[in-house]
Amino acid sequence: MTEERKLDHLRICLNEDVESNLVTNGFEDIHFVHRALPELDKNDIDISTEFLDHRFEAPVIVEPMTGGEQSLSKEINAALASMVEEAGIGMGLGSQRAALEDSSLEETYTIVREKAPTAFLMANIGCTQLLSERGIEYAERVIEMVDADALSIHLNPLQEAIQPEGETYFLGVLQRIRDVVKEVKVPVIVKETGAGIASEDARKLAEVGVACIDVAGAGGTSWAAVEHYRAKSNRDELRAKLGKTFWDWGIPTAICLIEVKQSVSIPVIASGGIRTGVEGAKAISLGADLVGMALPFLKATVKGDAKETLNIFLEELKNVMFLVGARNLEELRSAPLVITGKTKVWLNERGFDTKIYARRSG
Ligand SMILES: Cc1cc2nc3c(=O)[nH]c(=O)nc-3n(C[C@H](O)[C@H](O)[C@H](O)COP(=O)(O)O)c2cc1C
Repeated sequence: MTEERKLDHLRICLNEDVESNLVTNGFEDIHFVHRALPELDKNDIDISTEFLDHRFEAPVIVEPMTGGEQSLSKEINAALASMVEEAGIGMGLGSQRAALEDSSLEETYTIVREKAPTAFLMANIGCTQLLSERGIEYAERVIEMVDADALSIHLNPLQEAIQPEGETYFLGVLQRIRDVVKEVKVPVIVKETGAGIASEDARKLAEVGVACIDVAGAGGTSWAAVEHYRAKSNRDELRAKLGKTFWDWGIPTAICLIEVKQSVSIPVIASGGIRTGVEGAKAISLGADLVGMALPFLKATVKGDAKETLNIFLEELKNVMFLVGARNLEELRSAPLVITGKTKVWLNERGFDTKIYARRSG
C-alpha cells in the first residue's frame, strides 16, 4: 500500500499543479539593497560552506522526496545522487517506511549511497512511525540502510489529516524525538513538509537536542493539493474538499525562517517554495545554513536536466552576492535587507524585530 501511495505522489507531483495558489513563500517581501560599488570581482565569490561538519561546495540540499517504489523512484534517486555527488552538495532520501515494510524495496534507497559515496545524505522517516514500539529500531535501520550522515524526521500533520490512510495520533512525538536524539549515532534534523515550523515548536525541538531544523514552509509544494488530486481520482469527495480548503495552509517560508532563526541557535535549512537563486540568497542572508528544494529537482531530473537547474540557481545566487558586494556566505549574512508587506506585519505582530536586518552594516 505504501509503495502504491508513493507512486501516486510522484505522478501527481509530476503531472498536476501542486504548488500553493494564494499563499506565497514570503521572499517577495525581503529586499536586498543594491550596491553600485560592490568593490569585488564576481569570479572571486566563494559559495562553499560547512554543514554539520561536512563540506558543501554550495549551500544547497535536495530535499527528501523519493524511494520505496520500483517503477520510477530508483531511477530518479540514482540521477539525483550522481548530480549531488558531482556538485559536492547534499541530498535527503524520501521516507524509508516502504523499505521497513518490504526489504525488497531497499535498493530504491541504497542506490543513492552507491551513486553518491561521499555526499552528505539524510535518512528519512515520519514522526508517526517513530511512535511505534519499534520506533528507535526503525530510526537506526533507516540510517544504517544508506550509511546516512544525518537522520531527518518529517512532521506532516496537514497531510496526515487529509489522506485516507492518515495517522493523526501525534501525542508523544516530541518525547520520542528526544529518545531518538539520544539513541542514534548521527545528528537529527526535524523538518516539516510544506506547512512550516513556528518559533514555539522550534524552541521545543532545540530543547530536546535536535541538531538542525528544516522549516519546509508554505509557498511551494502543498501536500493538501497532492492529497486533493489523489482523493479526486478515488472519488473521495470529503477528502477532495478538505485538500482544496487547506491547499494554502501553513506559515510562509520566509516568515518561519525568521521566526526560527530568532528563537534558536541551531543550524537551519530554508525550504518550501524556493525556486530561484535570488530567493536562496535571501534565505541565506536571513541566516539559513542551507537552502533546500524538492519539486524543481524532481521535475528537472525526469527531463534529464537537474544539473542545469542547479547551475542556474548557483549563478543567480552568485549574481546577488556580486550585486550586494558579498565575497562569501558570511558576508551575504551581514548584507542589509529591508522587510516589507505581510511578512513584516506578521513578524511584528508576533513580536519579532524586522529592523535589525535593515540596519546591518554590510
Ligand atoms: C514528490 C515528493 C515527495 C516527497 N516526499 C517526502 C518524504 O518522503 N519525506 C519528507 O520529509 N518530505 C517529503 N517531501 C517534502 C519535501 O522534502 C519538501 O519539504 C517540500 O516539498 C517543500 O519543498 P518544495 O516546495 O521545494 O517542493 C516530498 C516532496 C515531493 C515533491
